Amino acid sequence: MKVVGGSASTSLAKAIARELAADHVEVAFERHPGGFPDGERYVRLLAPVRGEHVVLVQTTHPDAMVVELFLLADAIRDAGASRVTAVIPYYGYGRQDKRFLDGEAVSAKTIAKHVAVDCDELLTMTMHNPEILKTFPIPSHEVSGMPALGRYLKSSKVDFLLAPDDNAVRFVKEAGAIAGVPWDYLQKERIDSYTVRITPKKLAVKGKSVAIVDDVISTGGTIATSAKELRSQGAHRVIAACVHGLFVDNAEANLKSCDEVISTDTIRSPHAKVSVAPEFAAAIRALG
Ligand code: R5P
Repeated sequence: MKVVGGSASTSLAKAIARELAADHVEVAFERHPGGFPDGERYVRLLAPVRGEHVVLVQTTHPDAMVVELFLLADAIRDAGASRVTAVIPYYGYGRQDKRFLDGEAVSAKTIAKHVAVDCDELLTMTMHNPEILKTFPIPSHEVSGMPALGRYLKSSKVDFLLAPDDNAVRFVKEAGAIAGVPWDYLQKERIDSYTVRITPKKLAVKGKSVAIVDDVISTGGTIATSAKELRSQGAHRVIAACVHGLFVDNAEANLKSCDEVISTDTIRSPHAKVSVAPEFAAAIRALG
């Protein structure tokens, strides 16, 4: 088995290779120093993969990383790999999981159709709607990022977890079982891409160290609104914890309401303090 990482996921690919005791294949991403002037991607495998089971690790965010994933998958197949497992740590485009309006692309399915051209199976992590995986043209599985977050939260002495909305209840349940602490959830209504409203609810958080647990932090609007509610109910420490830290637009300003922000390494950022390499390595081993 060999592990190849795209430029969005180089460190995670190396960590997965270490966990699996497999070779990591280096990739050149620039033909000339500075790359192509028009910003197009370039990839070149720097070691043979003929006859190998190759694990290709690449997050599909931002958009150029989607193109890079397809280039790498094609190069790996052309180089004679016998099996290609795509590991997409953060499945960019996963949130457009249905046709909300006539004429829209179901973007999550669109990406999967193209992954299936050169890959035999797909692993991804903590999706907004894992049901969409059943519609993909190759065997596709969700790996949970919650064990990694739960371990971190246990070690950082958190004593209560909060899901900011219904969708996050399954996350907080799993992380809470691992951290060994109680949890509760809020009802959230999304007004627009930047604004959410929560239904007031009494929470047992007075004097507590509380982590808000979610799949994604994007603009940080959800976290800021939940953190404000926690502070108003007497929480003494508020941590924002997510699997996928996109941190777009005003996220850093919004997150100032928290004492600490942590994410996993599915997306690179200064907040990515928890590695999900053990979770992906176990899932790859389980594929057989
Ligand atoms: C939505 O249901 C997701 O679980 C997250 O709560 C959402 O993507 C977070 O977005 P933002 O950080 O922009 O509020």
